[in-house]
Amino acid sequence: MNAKCDVEKMQMLHGGIPVKDVHLITGVYRKFEEDWEDEVGDNGNEFWDVAFMECPPPNYLVPSTEDLASEEFDDGDLIVKRIFLGGREIKFNCFLGDGVLNNVGLESWDAGYVLLGVLMDGEYDEGIKARKVLELGAGCGFVSKGLEYLDFKNLTASDFDDGVIKLLKKNVETTEVKKIDWFKTETYNCDDKYDLIIGSAVVYSPEHKVLTNVIDSLLQEGGSALIINMRRPGWDEFVLSLEDTFGAENITVQLVTDEQVKAGEKIKREEIQGTFNICRIIKKK
Ligand SMILES: C[S@@+](CC[C@H](N)C(=O)[O-])C[C@H]1O[C@@H](n2cnc3c(N)ncnc32)[C@H](O)[C@@H]1O
Repeated sequence: MNAKCDVEKMQMLHGGIPVKDVHLITGVYRKFEEDWEDEVGDNGNEFWDVAFMECPPPNYLVPSTEDLASEEFDDGDLIVKRIFLGGREIKFNCFLGDGVLNNVGLESWDAGYVLLGVLMDGEYDEGIKARKVLELGAGCGFVSKGLEYLDFKNLTASDFDDGVIKLLKKNVETTEVKKIDWFKTETYNCDDKYDLIIGSAVVYSPEHKVLTNVIDSLLQEGGSALIINMRRPGWDEFVLSLEDTFGAENITVQLVTDEQVKAGEKIKREEIQGTFNICRIIKKK
């Protein structure tokens, strides 16, 4: 298949670097490599090397497991994926389209499986299940859906893209869905505050340090946030801005341990590759 990709969306995926006209399968790797090298340097190449290692181009087109089945979702095909939590199998949908990656939120990212693994693995006491929890950049919503099954009672999942929100709504059951755009303060400037804010694979551009403001505005005093992310472009800027806002003593960043990755793999029932950071943020009273 020789799918011409949606340039605007690929630019977003690409962290804002202009890309004129690319082919997802045939030309994209080389072209991106050149652009990225010029404008971002080694860090960017590392990003794309990892990105393509995780999900080489053919996987955008061909579901890799037999478990996948398709059904209609507007102009493209949805695939059914499964997560495995406490002996239960939970289905959710993501998007494959016709080879065009419309938005990064339309698929499930490994950081999300790791986040679920960390949350299952005693990161918080049982009381957290009754508290108000917000997921930022929830994408297709499989993390929130998993948390529903883990008996979290007070969940909100958010994203900014209408197509992604539609998919998110389709996937979650009891979770409230909100449109929150990190770049539009009016979408999150409200009295609603949360005890825990979570996010996976939400930092991939230097502009994403704006998430600090979102977390600060929406986190209850005494609450905490947990972000699982690869060291993508923008990660260091994000951590620095967190330290400026919340105080360095209230931020910890560690590498996700092998055990935590294994916990994610049990949920995904597939290997997870790559190195993830876990960032914990505390908002002092
Ligand atoms: C790489 S995906 C990760 C999705 C999901 N958390 C996961 O782990 O599979 C990044 C998500 O951030 C969302 N996002 C990007 N920019 C955003 C913005 N300005 N406001 C809100 N969400 C945004 C995208 O729509 C997408 O769902």
